[in-house]
Amino acid sequence: MSRGLLDAFKWLGTGRVYSLPWLKNRLEYSSDPERIAAYARTPFTRSRFVMEMLTQFHLSQQSIVVSEDGHARWLKRMSLAYMPREAVIPKMARAIVYGVLPPLDEGERTVLLTDPLIRELYRAMLEHTLGVEVLKPLDDCISQTRFPHGTRTMVLEGIMLSLRLHTKALLPVRYVLERTVFKRDYTMLRIARTLDQMVCDFSIPKPDSWLKALADLRTSGKITEAQFMGEIRSMLVSSFSLASALGSALLCLAARPRYQKRIREDPAFANYFALEVLRLYPPFRQFGYEPVLADGAPAIGTPPHEFMISVCPLHRNADYWDAPHRFHPERFEDPRAAKGFSYLPFGMGKRNCPGRRLSMSLMIETLRYVCSDASHIALVRRGSLPRGRGGRLVSFAVDASLTYRAKSTTGSSPEKLEARTRSRTR
Ligand code: HEM
Repeated sequence: MSRGLLDAFKWLGTGRVYSLPWLKNRLEYSSDPERIAAYARTPFTRSRFVMEMLTQFHLSQQSIVVSEDGHARWLKRMSLAYMPREAVIPKMARAIVYGVLPPLDEGERTVLLTDPLIRELYRAMLEHTLGVEVLKPLDDCISQTRFPHGTRTMVLEGIMLSLRLHTKALLPVRYVLERTVFKRDYTMLRIARTLDQMVCDFSIPKPDSWLKALADLRTSGKITEAQFMGEIRSMLVSSFSLASALGSALLCLAARPRYQKRIREDPAFANYFALEVLRLYPPFRQFGYEPVLADGAPAIGTPPHEFMISVCPLHRNADYWDAPHRFHPERFEDPRAAKGFSYLPFGMGKRNCPGRRLSMSLMIETLRYVCSDASHIALVRRGSLPRGRGGRLVSFAVDASLTYRAKSTTGSSPEKLEARTRSRTR
């Protein structure tokens, strides 16, 4: 009897494959680089489950992230041409730091990083990736918006998926849940709608910009109105992932001040520091795939199988990382460390992240600026490294408070403050 019951919950394959056949779907969670490498050799696409999660998180059903492979490949390739040029990134980084940690005349200030970081990154993404001039009403609206950043837990979503609560018939139940249990997601959806509209009404596309290109695609009928709006909303969503990464980087820098000196003396070291931050605090905690046929067509008829990558356990897998829980950027001095399937902060294969280069460059330039003599602030030492929140799709540091002070060497006379303010590029 008990054996029969256990059989119903039989775990297939390795201890990391969970299979509940009676629930009709299989979710395999892996943090094993060899298993991931083997999976990567088979044809796959983004899984339905992750699509569902991303639709919730991206607050849209029409952006690249939640579209089919062909459309995603086409639009992704085009969008890469409009990513900010390397020369612009140091200015972007400085403007973000000024916005989040404004100049002080004297003393110290403590800020809760996440909300201001999302705000500044959203502005930066609008200006430099979407390529618009932000008009005052939009700028004011961004300043006044609070960005709730707690997405629902993945485990809960997994259970909902297993229990088929994602079907259309249960939309009314979900509607009630959204407004009672997942209030934050719902609030975020309302905020996103307001911001989308404000971007349409109060921004001017620059001549050779991604927004202008998207508008042309819409006019020529190559994308729909909903897809056009979906891409605008994507900017908001990517500012969340970037805010998570930059926030963790600043918190780690404050907790390990010896690296401030190291980066000031050797700016190239900022690259290793950023890689280590993304290893220990990957913004995306999970992503996943499902099989397709070799030509990319859906593998109808095969048993449903969602292959989820658990990024934190992967990045802390003791079989592949020495002292995996230690913050030790020097490990990336060996160029092999960031290669292969044991390190995947930006995903893998054809659905990997097109914002990777921009994100890495922005993290590196922010670290370099904060550690440099030109910086207007000095970080006050933090007692501990940040703590991330597990089980979410995108995770932020739980204890995101950062204390900083005016840098004594740069002085803080009104003239200098004004000069520094003028040097902001926004
Ligand atoms: C540190 C910051 C970021 C991290 C850690 C990150 C991570 C990821 C991950 C893990 C995926 C899923 C990959 C997969 O399923 O294989 C993804 C997809 C994506 N990311 Fe990022 N991302 C970041 C920043 C950005 C930025 C700044 C942009 C836009 C400029 C962006 C645009 C996208 C898009 C469009 C996709 C969907 C690609 C597709 O569906 O084919 N990301 N990102």
